[in-house]
Amino acid sequence: MKTAIFYYSQSGQAHNVALRISVPMDTVVFKEIVPKEKYPFPWSSDIFYDTFPETRLGMPPSGIEPIDFSDIADADMVIVVGQSWFLSPSLPLQSFFADAQVRSYLNGRPVVFVNACRNMWLMTSRKIKEYLADIGARFVGHIVLQDETPNLISVITIIRWLVYGKKEPTRLLPPAGIADKDIYNATRFGEIIERTATEGNLNELQDRLLEAGAIHYKPSVLYVEKVGHRMFGLWAKFIRKKGGFRDPRRLRRIKLFNIYLMTVLFVVSPFGVLFFYLTYPLHHVGRDKQIDVKVS
Ligand SMILES: Cc1cc2nc3c(=O)[nH]c(=O)nc-3n(C[C@H](O)[C@H](O)[C@H](O)COP(=O)(O)O)c2cc1C
Repeated sequence: MKTAIFYYSQSGQAHNVALRISVPMDTVVFKEIVPKEKYPFPWSSDIFYDTFPETRLGMPPSGIEPIDFSDIADADMVIVVGQSWFLSPSLPLQSFFADAQVRSYLNGRPVVFVNACRNMWLMTSRKIKEYLADIGARFVGHIVLQDETPNLISVITIIRWLVYGKKEPTRLLPPAGIADKDIYNATRFGEIIERTATEGNLNELQDRLLEAGAIHYKPSVLYVEKVGHRMFGLWAKFIRKKGGFRDPRRLRRIKLFNIYLMTVLFVVSPFGVLFFYLTYPLHHVGRDKQIDVKVS
């Protein structure tokens, strides 16, 4: 079996996930997704927040560098490994799925999407489902690798990492990002994908992946994500009224969004989680989970 793995990664985290998944696979060809617009790592605070409106509104500012498809024309399986930005697919992933050649390549093919993110992946997965349905690809598997430390801790460690480039632990904080052991153990997903595809049982792939722990479903975090996603939509439109991507005229609104986001992350979201548990019987957690972890 031949697998094409497309990936985008700034720090190397998503790339490492892709490498571990590929270990048990027979023949693998890696294709890096290279956006024409470059995103810095570590990020400056202003550029980080200025990237928000277009990410949330699905307006990537550039396309991607051309991909050579000649050695993967005969691939049996496609895996796309990327990440969430601002509760949406990252801009490079958005550019990837908008690219005409990518779309024609993916049409009719089975696709597994792997999200290597902090812990808010739900709205990204909905968007990926939309892209793949629109392209006419077959979404057969969804894997989420996330930071398993408590939400508030991972907010602190990810800011330290993304803005100051510090991933290592401190006396009080764990290292940022997905735990090394979780990345290491991602090989089990590669084994399941390879075996299930070789047997011709792709209809069963997502159930098998879920059984192996492909998605750790945390309903309170996803509740906060859903509310945040709606608010983000309003903020993104509010900022865009002042100008487009990197327009300095919108800097004041970007700074206001920065304050809003910090307040939400550190002050509001703990109450959101508490509210979620206080009103637990009113949520349809079981039913939502069934829908959210499905690939169709
Ligand atoms: C601009 C930006 C926004 C992000 N927003 C989210 C998010 O909404 N949800 C989430 O789980 N992770 C978020 N992350 C973390 C990424 O999903 C990812 O884990 C991290 O950037 C490392 O990815 P890499 O492999 O590209 O280095 C964000 C990262 C960046 C750079």
